[in-house]
Amino acid sequence: MTRLGTPLSPSATRVMLLGSGELGKEVLIALQRLGVETIAVDRYENAPGQQVAHHARTITMSDPAQLKALIEAERPHLVVPEIEAIATPALQELEAAGVVRVIPTARAARLTMDREGIRRLAAETLGLPTSPYKFCDSLAELQAAIDNGIGYPCIVKPVMSSSGKGQSKIDGPADVQTAWDYAMSGGRVGPGRVIVEGFIDFDYEITQLTVRARGEDGAIHTHFCDPIGHVQVSGDYVESWQPHPMHPQALQRAREISKAVTDNLGVGIDGQDSGLGLFGVELFVKGERVWFSEVSPRPHDTGMVTMITQWQNEFELHARAILGLPVDTTLKSPGASAVIYGGVEAKGIVFDGVDEAMRVPNCDIRLFGKPESFVKRRMGVALVHDADVEHARSQAKLAASKVRPCLD
Ligand SMILES: Nc1ncnc2c1ncn2[C@@H]1O[C@H](COP(=O)(O)OP(=O)(O)OP(=O)(O)O)[C@@H](O)[C@H]1O
Ligand SMILES: [Mg+2]
Repeated sequence: MTRLGTPLSPSATRVMLLGSGELGKEVLIALQRLGVETIAVDRYENAPGQQVAHHARTITMSDPAQLKALIEAERPHLVVPEIEAIATPALQELEAAGVVRVIPTARAARLTMDREGIRRLAAETLGLPTSPYKFCDSLAELQAAIDNGIGYPCIVKPVMSSSGKGQSKIDGPADVQTAWDYAMSGGRVGPGRVIVEGFIDFDYEITQLTVRARGEDGAIHTHFCDPIGHVQVSGDYVESWQPHPMHPQALQRAREISKAVTDNLGVGIDGQDSGLGLFGVELFVKGERVWFSEVSPRPHDTGMVTMITQWQNEFELHARAILGLPVDTTLKSPGASAVIYGGVEAKGIVFDGVDEAMRVPNCDIRLFGKPESFVKRRMGVALVHDADVEHARSQAKLAASKVRPCLD
């Protein structure tokens, strides 16, 4: 049985979001709708989620002392990581001490914060199909890994990075030095380790949103959303759509892989199967073959499309699941999303053309309210529903192009 309190009273159910960007903002809105008291944490002030939460806190989340001090002071019932760059060992300590519950588990947050933890778990512990890979700490090791099996083409990524930062493709020996230098400049924590992966020549890639939620029987059950197709440019998502048509065999495989990895991440360090919430499992597909790429133990950026395609979008599913409530992953309508980039470097920009964008049939627009724009910063998203998913894709791109971020 789940019991929810009254916010800002002693009975409040209190949830802390670590990371309050556009994805966190939507989770916070979903929690607010259930009368949950929310604390939005980010590294800078007026982050999107901080604008809609009861409380806003600004700290360096990768600093274990700051993170521990904040959680101990606030004592939320749940801590919900929204980003990877968090002092996850501190979360593990606090969870082990019974101070707080981390979503889905502190162990999952820790394993997915760098590429090595999750890749070794998926490929070596669970035996799931992945690209061939090797971890390297120097240019010489990288060259040796390529020469001794990985081959060309391949992809180099800092072990700690996201959204394609520091990531590049190597087509031949001439690109190795450049890729190494680029990886060194793009990692989250100074110079360091990279993963080199053999290039998978996939037909398409999908995000399999997978929800672990408690059923009426008290046990945790796994629910799947319809597959989300997406296009990535330099490791960053530019458009997504749902459902992506799949060969039944490939769909089944995608779900088996997603179940295996989320089942494992659902187990805490105490060995208890307790992890609740939504996961974004990234998979590559060629014909009937499926490869595991990576997983976010939280809503996924490509899943923003569900704000227009599902009865319960991925943020509502996450909010409900973590509170122990039932979920429904049913599709409402096919649809698509297209990212609106900043295009300019400035604070306090304005958006022209939102009216024109909204005149595109079946369209909705979200602007995230980020205080500062960068050329390649995601500032909003266009959403379109249509019975024909391909039509939805072109209409979403059309709508996104009508929104013009500019200087005031
Ligand atoms: N081994 C590979 N073979 C082919 N394409 C790949 C491979 N690895 C990554 N890619 C492409 O690059 C994209 C980004 O890779 P990946 O998800 O590992 O990086 P990321 O920085 O974590 O990105 P994000 O944070 O946006 O998910 C993938 O979605 C895929 O399109
Ligand atoms: Mg990815």
